Amino acid sequence: EKGGYEHFMLKEMNEQPKTIRDTISPRIKDGRIVIDELGMSDEEIRNINRIHIVACGSAYHTGFTSKYIFEGMARIPVEVDVASEFRYRNPILEDGALVIIISQSGETADSLAALRMAKERGVKTLGIVNVVGSSIAREADKVMYTWAGPEIAVATTKAYSAQLVAQYLLAIKFAQVRGKVTEAEVGEMLRDLKKLPDQVEMLLSHKEKIQKFANRFIAAKDIFFIGRGIDYAISMEGSLKLKEISYIHSEAYAAGELKHGTISLIEDGTPVVAVATQDALLKKTISNIVEVKTRGAFVMAVTNEGNTEIEKTADYVIYIPQTNAYFANSLAIIPLQLFSYYVAVGKGCDVDKPRNLAKSVTVE
Ligand code: M6R
Repeated sequence: EKGGYEHFMLKEMNEQPKTIRDTISPRIKDGRIVIDELGMSDEEIRNINRIHIVACGSAYHTGFTSKYIFEGMARIPVEVDVASEFRYRNPILEDGALVIIISQSGETADSLAALRMAKERGVKTLGIVNVVGSSIAREADKVMYTWAGPEIAVATTKAYSAQLVAQYLLAIKFAQVRGKVTEAEVGEMLRDLKKLPDQVEMLLSHKEKIQKFANRFIAAKDIFFIGRGIDYAISMEGSLKLKEISYIHSEAYAAGELKHGTISLIEDGTPVVAVATQDALLKKTISNIVEVKTRGAFVMAVTNEGNTEIEKTADYVIYIPQTNAYFANSLAIIPLQLFSYYVAVGKGCDVDKPRNLAKSVTVE
């Protein structure tokens, strides 16, 4: 059932073009975003005054990404919490709030408890869920399914990708209804969204190159990920993927925070993955790369096609194709998933079933 692949994770990574397509296409009709399952009138969408995104692990990272998008594009304030914090912190949930719970399995105990708490407090809830008929799908007021199909590998890849694009659609829809984007901008974003599957496919086809590169990191003790804005969110996911399956210690930092402590950990040869897809922040990130290079770091950068100036500082550069800056996570995460996978394979780890972890965390 691995369809000829060595691991479920590899199979599922390769299914991402299809997953993205399946999540997007039923929701674009005649050039418009139609999310019927949302069951919200335009007036209700205009009345949303705060979004709370609540999830765990990688699902949380997708929410962390879409905070930048909902706020930047739709101008709706967003709070993102890991479910185990949200449920115990007595959050302020006011009229007009929308609570979005994101979960692949739909059974994560903390996420489910957070959903129940939000419902008890009388706020609207929306589940972004993969498993049809799961607890979160049944209990949320509304459900938007990510059509990724069954995900077996403990490390999520295709469900993650589907969660991201589901949130892009929501954010564009909200921005449009609230008059924050023009029709022309929406048209351009939809064109970029439709290109994602082929662009992901192209990035996946470079796996041999990444495998060769990944083999050099098998003995690494620590690997740091840095980025700003959405690149910080991508770094968090890249770092989690790596530590989860390869057992290499890894941390993600907002690049601008390095100076406030972490940079003391950089010594000769310390691997650093710098994510630099946000062109507006490129110069800032490059100066952080220079800072770690000066302390001896070995830097792998992930950036947009055309940003060749980064080659002056980084030791190894992976380019992703051009897309809207808001959608960069969908592309930049692909080489990072492959990197983690091949480091873990190279170390002989049990990639699909990493130690101490369960696919679905049904106890808190
Ligand atoms: O089923 P869920 O999406 O609610 O699961 C949330 C996390 O447990 C999950 O994303 C976890 O972090 C993954 N194993 C990461 O690859």
